[in-house]
Amino acid sequence: MPQPPELITLHGSFSSVMLELDGAGAPLWRYWGARLESVSHIPLLRATRAAPSFSLDDDVPLSLFPSFGVGWFGPSALLAHRVGADFAQSWTGCVVEWLAPERAVCVTLFDDVARLRVVITLSLDSASDILSINTTLTNMGAAPLDVQHLAAACLPLPNEALRLRHYVGRHNAEFQREEQALGRSGWRRENRRGLTGHGGPCGAVILRDDGGAWGAQLAWSGNATQSIDWSDDGQFIWQLGEWLAPGEVRLAPGESLATPDVLASFSPEGADGIARNFHAAIRGRMIWPGGAMTPRPVHFNTWEGLYFNHDRTTLTELAKVAAEIGAERFVLDDGWFHRRDDDTRGLGDWWPDADQYPDGLAPLAAHVTTLGMGFGLWVEPEMVNPDSDLFRAHPDWALHIAGRPLLTARHQLVLDLTRADVCAHLFGCLDKLLRTLPIRYLKWDHNRDLTCAGTTLGRAAYRAQVLAAYALFDSIRAAHPDIEIEACAGGGGRLDAGIITRTHRFWTSDCIDAVSRLSIQQGFLQFFPPELMGAHIGAAPAHSTGRQQSQDFRAAVALTGHLGVELDLLALGAAERARLAHWIALYKQFRDQLHHGAVYHGAVGDGVSWQAHGPKEARADEDWLLFLYRTSPATQGQAPPVRLPFLNSRVDYVVSPREPVEGEARSYGGAWLMTAGLPLPPMMAECALIYQITRA
Ligand code: DGJ
Repeated sequence: MPQPPELITLHGSFSSVMLELDGAGAPLWRYWGARLESVSHIPLLRATRAAPSFSLDDDVPLSLFPSFGVGWFGPSALLAHRVGADFAQSWTGCVVEWLAPERAVCVTLFDDVARLRVVITLSLDSASDILSINTTLTNMGAAPLDVQHLAAACLPLPNEALRLRHYVGRHNAEFQREEQALGRSGWRRENRRGLTGHGGPCGAVILRDDGGAWGAQLAWSGNATQSIDWSDDGQFIWQLGEWLAPGEVRLAPGESLATPDVLASFSPEGADGIARNFHAAIRGRMIWPGGAMTPRPVHFNTWEGLYFNHDRTTLTELAKVAAEIGAERFVLDDGWFHRRDDDTRGLGDWWPDADQYPDGLAPLAAHVTTLGMGFGLWVEPEMVNPDSDLFRAHPDWALHIAGRPLLTARHQLVLDLTRADVCAHLFGCLDKLLRTLPIRYLKWDHNRDLTCAGTTLGRAAYRAQVLAAYALFDSIRAAHPDIEIEACAGGGGRLDAGIITRTHRFWTSDCIDAVSRLSIQQGFLQFFPPELMGAHIGAAPAHSTGRQQSQDFRAAVALTGHLGVELDLLALGAAERARLAHWIALYKQFRDQLHHGAVYHGAVGDGVSWQAHGPKEARADEDWLLFLYRTSPATQGQAPPVRLPFLNSRVDYVVSPREPVEGEARSYGGAWLMTAGLPLPPMMAECALIYQITRA
């Protein structure tokens, strides 16, 4: 029997999505899970459901866009009204168009009573198994519509969705993993900080006990909300979208509100499978200068080595040593501009400090360029210190609410990007720097949350601020298409799939302590690929924690990301510099392998974890790199073996120690490594081993 015409099915490589047309109403969610190999003999939902007792006579199942007030008691994808009227919405017309057969579909819903139109597009990419969804609401009425909430996506999760994995965080402690059982009382996370926040993007992973998992993340750099509610009929409903402040969105007649994209995925390979799907999707969204990513250059960043002490002689010498050890990009961090001796002043005055740089930045940039490195510069355009020429000239340019105090954080205020004159000024400052200096790279920082974020009309400015920041990034990139940009917000405060289409690297965390970094980086890799993960070899003791780790351990932890060095190179002896140069050379040898394929990871137990980087396809026969990290001393006599599920059971492998190069290469059957595991030698705490695994 062919598929009934009421069913709309999208297929990925390993997942399928099915909707069921429901007359004039919103299509019903029929299925989201493992790929359906056949779609014959599928019963319609309405034919299989009986209305439970004490329910409406007309059953109301979960739809693609459930809305409040006309029979649906669950969470609403829309909360809106016209001065209190039109508070209930229901769909009186539905038009479905294929954008690409079995790949992408556009659903248009009409409410002729509340006079609304909603357009939802869904596309399921076969390469990544990512289901992208976004929603646009249009006010078709004659009076303004106040929108309190518009979900970007409203996703179904079956009752066997058991555990929820999500991330919380703060400055210096991004991506702290939390896991909890999903229960009937529901779950909600809201971010009202005005930017993504240090817990990572709005998103999560839902685990089923057979190893399958669902994941989603919102491509947005501002306030956000997500919730998982239990529906009485026996499933969960997962919503993601922007969090709107009171009165923030009022649509004039004919006006629309478009949500950011939600990137969602089902994987039979659990949370790691979701991560690989996200990696593929993010790689597909990147906009690289020249059209493709080049090998990720080794950074030298001045921040933790110098902070605000921009002594020219020191900088000149640092650049020389950085080039000698193999750095390829020199990033001059905070402290270079007018009167920026510390973090209390200067933000907004984007010209070189005349005392520190009497001849401007050109001599240093030329020195760096002559040494063969690209020159990068730190900026924080969206900010202003009250103690700055800019603020003295334009005190009204900071985001504020009349009658409320200007709340500083790190002694700074946020500029009101919803003002065209502010954006034009900032574009002018950045454009001048980029036109007059050989800058190849901007590290674009944002060191505080938004408070008192009002527009000149006294309305909430959060959403408009994000859109204006995006537009500023876009206009800089359009004018200077060859530069790369790093997204930073006090470390990882603005890491998301929205900003990454404008940038090329994330500064993952200000915490460079290698033990802390392991969990931060694992959280990062849940959402983003390793080549975007700024990972630096910092000083010992680590500035953020005071912990002391060997240079080898710090390097082995940083090696899998986009490598950098961030310490006072001049304080290192010759042996330490030589060892750094060794690690940088190793990174250059491995980076192609690290940055294009699949990442797998796991915990062995007794303080050991592993991360493997290999080809795009699991069970392919190419090389793998295996990183083993011991964070705490062993409590057992023998370390547990590491099972390597990504290998091919029918292939024999040679496992060779690559760092340190101690011991011999050994051969193992793939089936043995997958099921019994690779035996590990004794390891000291806070040590790493790197193995290369090749086909025998
Ligand atoms: C916060 C960033 O995360 C650091 O790397 C550094 O750039 C400082 N800001 C500079 O103020």
